[in-house]
Amino acid sequence: MRDVFTANTLKGRKALVFGASRGLGRASAEQLAAMGADVVLLARSTERLRLVAGELQRKYGVATTIEAADLVDEAALNAVLRRHADTDLLITNCGGPPVGPYLQTPLADWDAAYRQIVRSVVQATQALLPHMAARGFGRVVMIASRTVRHPLALMAISNSLRKALLGIAETIADEFGEKGITANLVCPGLTRTERMTEVLAARARNAGKSEDELLAEMLRPIAAGRVGQPREIAATVGFLCTDVAGYIQGQCLLVDGGHKL
Ligand SMILES: NC(=O)c1ccc[n+]([C@@H]2O[C@H](COP(=O)([O-])OP(=O)(O)OC[C@H]3O[C@@H](n4cnc5c(N)ncnc54)[C@H](OP(=O)(O)O)[C@@H]3O)[C@@H](O)[C@H]2O)c1
Repeated sequence: MRDVFTANTLKGRKALVFGASRGLGRASAEQLAAMGADVVLLARSTERLRLVAGELQRKYGVATTIEAADLVDEAALNAVLRRHADTDLLITNCGGPPVGPYLQTPLADWDAAYRQIVRSVVQATQALLPHMAARGFGRVVMIASRTVRHPLALMAISNSLRKALLGIAETIADEFGEKGITANLVCPGLTRTERMTEVLAARARNAGKSEDELLAEMLRPIAAGRVGQPREIAATVGFLCTDVAGYIQGQCLLVDGGHKL
């Protein structure tokens, strides 16, 4: 059990990581590379992907591939999935959906968010699961949000659509569990990424408060009394990808510092 996080734990495995150019996706890709997996990094920005790929290659000596594609572009995603049918570890992740009051959340936003948050995961898992099943091993880890368990104000889309991911993970667990495949959600709470910093600044401006003041309010219900670090989410993703995590199925793991309701 002491060897769960070594540089060889995932050697010989190939990971496909969505939203890997920054934030939680990037951190997850780094964790998997640090554990020896070869990684395919997908996001829209080629430039940022190149930087991440170069860094992971240099630091960990693993093979890296970049795939510049939009998760909502069915044809582009299909082409990526065909090129990487030998993926062992699928990490799904995407940009955050729009935030706002329920009545001011237009149907078009729901449609766009469904395509990114839910449909891309269905498309990717439908393409890759048969190959994983044929090889007798696979890990699907979906980066979601604590909204799967605890709804947040002004986040109707996240509160609603991310729950669908749990249904998908439970279904995959049920239909593919005996083939050595697991499917689980990692559900972050407040975690320090570039996006979190941008959102905090915007919310502080809107509320006419300083960022420190707003952050102190946001931390009050968090038992850990601090913001999470991307590497803490990534470590959970990495653990779920190991062989010894093979008995964790269809779960939603909250990594939120013990956020009280
Ligand atoms: N950070 C938190 O506190 C927190 C808490 C709970 C849940 N989450 C959720 O966790 C996810 C990741 O969060 P984060 O803070 O790491 O976000 P982030 O910094 O905005 O990173 C999002 C990543 O997804 C990529 N991406 C966005 N839209 C895409 C698309 N249509 N096709 C392909 N790639 C796309 C981005 O790269 P490109 O722009 O180059 O495509 C980027 O690599 C989000 O869904 C967020 O809502 C975050």
